[in-house]
Amino acid sequence: MSSHFCYTVVTLYILVLIARAVHGERAMVPLDTRQGSQQPIVFSSSWQVLGPFQIGTREATWGSDPLEYLGGFRALQYDQGAQFRSSLGTNGTAKWALLDAKQTTSTPNSTNASLSISYPDVDWVFLRIVYGWAAVQYQAWARGEIVVNAAVTQHVILYTDMALEFWVDDVHYFGGDFYAYRKAPPVLHLSPGSHKIDVRLIRDVRAMGGVLEPTIDVVLELQQTSGSLELAKPGVLMADVVDGKLASSIGSIALRNSGEDDIEIVDVQSSDTNNTLLNDNSDIIVAAGQTRPVAFNISLRGGNSSSLNVAVIYKPVKVEGQLSSLNVSQNLAKRSLYDPHKITYLHPGGMVSYAMLRPPARNATCRLGQNISLPVLLQLHGAGLEAENEQVAHALDPVSDLCAWVMFPTGVTPWSGDDWHNWGFADVEYAVNSIPSWIKTVGWQGPGVDIGRWVVSGHSNGGQGTWYSLTHQPDRIIAAAPVSGYASIQKYVPYELWQPMDPRRSAIVSGSLNSYRHEMLMENAKGIPILQQHGEKDDNVPTYHSRFLGQLLFQAGAQSNYYELPGQGHWFDSVMTTSQLKDFYRKQTATNMTDSTRLKEFTFIVADPGDMGRKGGIRVTHLEDPGQYGRVGVKYDSALNSYIIRTSNILGLQLSGRYSEKVDINGQELVLPGESTNEDGSNEVCLTTEGTWKVGSLHSTEADVLYRRGRQLGAMTAILRTRGPFIISHQGNQTSQVALQVSRNLHQYFSADSKIVGSASWDNNGTGNVITIATGESLPPSTHPNFPIQVGATSISVRDSEERQRTFEGDARLGAAFLRPLQDERLELVIWGSDGESLAQAARLVPMLTGVGQPDFVILGESARWRGVEGAMALGFLNHAWNVTASSLV
Ligand SMILES: *[C@@H]1O[C@H](CO)[C@@H](O)[C@H](O)[C@H]1NC(C)=O
Ligand SMILES: *[C@@H]1O[C@H](CO)[C@@H](O)[C@H](O)[C@H]1NC(C)=O
Ligand SMILES: *[C@@H]1O[C@H](CO)[C@@H](O)[C@H](O)[C@H]1NC(C)=O
Ligand SMILES: *[C@@H]1O[C@H](CO)[C@@H](O)[C@H](O)[C@H]1NC(C)=O
Ligand SMILES: *[C@@H]1O[C@H](CO)[C@@H](O)[C@H](O)[C@H]1NC(C)=O
Ligand SMILES: *[C@@H]1O[C@H](CO)[C@@H](O)[C@H](O)[C@H]1NC(C)=O
Ligand SMILES: *[C@@H]1O[C@H](CO)[C@@H](O)[C@H](O)[C@H]1NC(C)=O
Ligand SMILES: *[C@@H]1O[C@H](CO)[C@@H](O)[C@H](O)[C@H]1NC(C)=O
Ligand SMILES: *[C@@H]1O[C@H](CO)[C@@H](O)[C@H](O)[C@H]1NC(C)=O
Repeated sequence: MSSHFCYTVVTLYILVLIARAVHGERAMVPLDTRQGSQQPIVFSSSWQVLGPFQIGTREATWGSDPLEYLGGFRALQYDQGAQFRSSLGTNGTAKWALLDAKQTTSTPNSTNASLSISYPDVDWVFLRIVYGWAAVQYQAWARGEIVVNAAVTQHVILYTDMALEFWVDDVHYFGGDFYAYRKAPPVLHLSPGSHKIDVRLIRDVRAMGGVLEPTIDVVLELQQTSGSLELAKPGVLMADVVDGKLASSIGSIALRNSGEDDIEIVDVQSSDTNNTLLNDNSDIIVAAGQTRPVAFNISLRGGNSSSLNVAVIYKPVKVEGQLSSLNVSQNLAKRSLYDPHKITYLHPGGMVSYAMLRPPARNATCRLGQNISLPVLLQLHGAGLEAENEQVAHALDPVSDLCAWVMFPTGVTPWSGDDWHNWGFADVEYAVNSIPSWIKTVGWQGPGVDIGRWVVSGHSNGGQGTWYSLTHQPDRIIAAAPVSGYASIQKYVPYELWQPMDPRRSAIVSGSLNSYRHEMLMENAKGIPILQQHGEKDDNVPTYHSRFLGQLLFQAGAQSNYYELPGQGHWFDSVMTTSQLKDFYRKQTATNMTDSTRLKEFTFIVADPGDMGRKGGIRVTHLEDPGQYGRVGVKYDSALNSYIIRTSNILGLQLSGRYSEKVDINGQELVLPGESTNEDGSNEVCLTTEGTWKVGSLHSTEADVLYRRGRQLGAMTAILRTRGPFIISHQGNQTSQVALQVSRNLHQYFSADSKIVGSASWDNNGTGNVITIATGESLPPSTHPNFPIQVGATSISVRDSEERQRTFEGDARLGAAFLRPLQDERLELVIWGSDGESLAQAARLVPMLTGVGQPDFVILGESARWRGVEGAMALGFLNHAWNVTASSLV
């Protein structure tokens, strides 16, 4: 939340008030449609707004729209006298209002409308005193029109900055562009005449701020498109040229198909040589309306070229022979080898990402000598920033001579994918892992790199990412400096104002977010030096977060120094290079070993083994109940000369070579084989069904799909641990719009790539995770022979932990979202509905925004549209054998 704080508020009320004054007398007001305009396509300037209504932090994904109780905003007509019950509005009611779009600008090929909504009548100040920042989040709807004055159908893209959900005519769009990335707008083909557009407005403190007047500012923009293949983003994503050499050879272009037929990318060629740049000949299909990043290899003709020119050769899928070409040019950025510069690499999701790398300085005075491998110093950026931004990439210029590889990763997007968690953290790992290939590519002669030892630091959202790295990968972290970071989303903007729900349900939603509640994981930091810093007057991330975690660290026996900067706010120019931080970077990068891996007594708290590394040489492979934290207590007993291990909610552990000979687990002595079965010298131990511990793994890897492990662990966000592009499989034209929407959202929010395939053509040998979109009986069976969730045409049945079969059916609309196993640690996320509408409702749950809390399975009833989580018929977790846990609600 760094750059999203500067809204001007004053004009907004005036607009609402004027609108009311002008139109107040009339009961029904037709929308002003600017018929006189000469532009081919325009937004109406007058909009009808209905609100405010309550919404919880990140709750909108679950539905929770009170107007759905009345059939949805789309079914309501403007009525000045109508009153709607609302917990926020004056007299307990919400009413319609008319609003002029703040600005509608039209050029021959684009038109935009900016809506600023505010409710000055609501006493936000008092509500905020009682409920905190949760109280300045609310929802409303706005209705306007798109008028096509031209005589022919207009092919356009629709940008929806800061909106999450909207309808155009009768088509529903969920996803929008909450952070205004503008990466994957939907493509519309609008016929002449007027089209209704309804936009759901959601106020979110993390995206829009919590200090100023709580307005909602949404920008809508239509742009005409070619109706064919075009660039979704100008230029080529590629590395910088350092001392005449390209720093990495992989590049990418983002392509959008704005036409109505699928397009096949036949080749990507160098325009200079006509050589192919694609190294993978598999079909690249960009479905109609889809945006995909396409990766290719780049080689420069000579050190002197100033630009790269490529031609994308494509054709319509249906037609043979008719090739077209799209030319793309990118100026090369030239830098010194020693300056922070852009490197590119493949993210595990199969698309290209970048990071800014600063190799060890020429004059770095590394006491350890030139032959030693230097650690990596990571600096994680705050929300809304690009790593290539000067403010990020040059933040450590004042410490130019560190003995470290300094890296500024992106986390793939300005919001670091998912706040540096699953998707964003994988990006950090792959960025670091690409340093050795950079060393080869540029012929680096300086000190080497130790990619397994990190000093991690970051500001704001990156401070939170620093806590995440520290608590999840403790054995890799030499030291950590979280600056102005927050402890967890729930502590940042409280979840108080969600729709009411059974405590079992809130436990499940909250349990799905266990891995991201750093305040629960502070014990993992023991043995790792930490420098905390926070501006005393920070009004963006309260100092409370750092003070609170500092206290918990103290109680966990961890070493943290806390510097609260008097009079300073959230951010200032040298916030990452205060004197204490400079000393800390110097000192910590110079150490050649870490104490934490040698701790004799520690506790390891694990929320999701799928995203946890080792602590003190121990890795947790499985929890008993994945909805609950697991705990491993370790203590060296010198009299026994062995380690005493006490566990709770743990099913399996991997013990490194440090735990040789014998250990005592929960009072039971286990003799460990000297010759371990694992390559890295570790031994696996697990809890048997009889309740005793044995040496060996929980299950054999042969029974691949029967047992859940590795990348499959975690709640629904585990689907993000894909290797290769997502595969979105669907049945045909009823599901294709939802498939397209899921693809768009994955690209918008994660820059991810996905292949959309009709189920007939889908082959099970891709490497990516699969998202299956199906209605009724068309869902293909699970690869697991006895999977506990089965669907029928209009019913769904769940086998609970006591082997009772619970069937949901009847005339109620049913939707479901749940994980299923595939071979080789891959996952399938099933999105199912008894009809098209319930399918769309289930599709909201595909992971996209952080903090939503989707567990492993959710069965939605229709009332979730307004009741939110309470409207789910069943939800919960699947254990290591893919059975429903006792903690689930069925
Ligand atoms: C307050 O709401 C009630 C219905 O809930 C309505 O009868 C009354 O007229 C409203 N008062 C005002 C001042 O709008
Ligand atoms: C829109 O039109 C202007 C000139 O009127 C042109 O410069 C611009 O490139 C056009 N943009 C698109 C997206 O076609
Ligand atoms: C609307 O479009 C105009 C012209 O393209 C542009 O100058 C203006 O910044 C846009 N407004 C917003 C709010 O994006
Ligand atoms: C590349 O292909 C184009 C079109 O086929 C041709 O005109 C051009 O001469 C070729 N260039 C080279 C360097 O071969
Ligand atoms: C290393 O060089 C940079 C400039 O290139 C300079 O600012 C810095 O002080 C030098 N450090 C040492 C230790 O000489
Ligand atoms: C670390 O450095 C110290 C001297 O600073 C040296 O004695 C020790 O052997 C080194 N340890 C390793 C593992 O390189
Ligand atoms: C959907 O499929 C049906 C039959 O397969 C076909 O008749 C219909 O035209 C299709 N609709 C669209 C919009 O493609
Ligand atoms: C997938 O496997 C089938 C046969 O099992 C093979 O025909 C097909 O080419 C494979 N597809 C890919 C993309 O490897
Ligand atoms: C999972 O459920 C199946 C079917 O009820 C049962 O046979 C099996 O023993 C269960 N496995 C575990 C590990 O709970």
